[in-house]
Amino acid sequence: MRSVKSSLIGVSSATKRRAFMIFVCAQVLGLYAVCAQELPQPRIEEEISKQEKIYRSRGDEVPRGYVIDRGLSGYAELLPAGFCDALGKLRSSDQWLDIGAGSGQAILDYYAPRDDDGAGKKCAGAGEKARALAISIEDRRTDTWQQQATSLGASRIRYLSGKRLRDYSSEELGKFRIITDVFGGFSYSERLSLFVDKVLSLLEIGGTFYTLVPGVHLENAKDKLGILYLTELEDATGRPERMCSWLKKSACTQVTCESKSDWKRPTELIKIEKVCSDTSVAPMKLLEFEAGYPPSRRFQIE
Ligand SMILES: C[S@@+](CC[C@H](N)C(=O)[O-])C[C@H]1O[C@@H](n2cnc3c(N)ncnc32)[C@H](O)[C@@H]1O
Repeated sequence: MRSVKSSLIGVSSATKRRAFMIFVCAQVLGLYAVCAQELPQPRIEEEISKQEKIYRSRGDEVPRGYVIDRGLSGYAELLPAGFCDALGKLRSSDQWLDIGAGSGQAILDYYAPRDDDGAGKKCAGAGEKARALAISIEDRRTDTWQQQATSLGASRIRYLSGKRLRDYSSEELGKFRIITDVFGGFSYSERLSLFVDKVLSLLEIGGTFYTLVPGVHLENAKDKLGILYLTELEDATGRPERMCSWLKKSACTQVTCESKSDWKRPTELIKIEKVCSDTSVAPMKLLEFEAGYPPSRRFQIE
């Protein structure tokens, strides 16, 4: 017991509690693996069904914090430097995938920038337009989306819903020059390593994934005190791991992180370029999940 305690110096108290319970399970039952896996399951499932209700919410039931209609200027503000330049340079034969697109407003703005939205117009660029695909678990298309899709032709802008990114085959979706995720699957998925693995498989070599994640331990280590973290990672021994350190272990990628320590929540803006075809991601398992917008999650790197 003393050795368990001494090996936990510097580890959070929740992690210590969990490690202690697992230790007791191992001692009493001699079933470490079964015990460690089964402890949190019923609660996680309950929280995942609460999360489903948030996705399915309609009208007045949509929680105020669950934003589904950010335009392109919102994407320009939130995504890493270089996103707008890269989007503006896409050719008509290229493809842009927006994961967790909500109503698809960013794509609508890309094709038809609003006169009163200077930042969105600048981000859309003046040249050719790539084909764009919006993915959302729930169908949030508006009449404007339907009208624009009809006038542009179905192959220019597409909207897929009814399942998560991981449930599509690569053949169904194709390959993309740019993939974006603004408070979509990267912030919401309960299977984060599988999510990133899928994103990388959908990028062309030389293609880039732009995203952000709020409430994480920052790469620049300038987190303020008293932060409520939303996504926490730990290594196999229970020690905290930073999101960017984990991502930087992925093969065939070039990962850049911009730490925003002065935002309301410490937020990492993340850019991942695919540099060769054999991508792989260090797998993680879900330890905790609490529904929300975004949910709070804790993962362990396996
Ligand atoms: C908060 S909304 C963000 C919408 C939009 N990006 C915006 O900023 O207005 C979250 C979106 O992510 C989607 N989403 C969450 N997890 C996903 C996943 N694993 N695969 C696909 N879409 C996902 C939801 O269905 C929803 O469309």
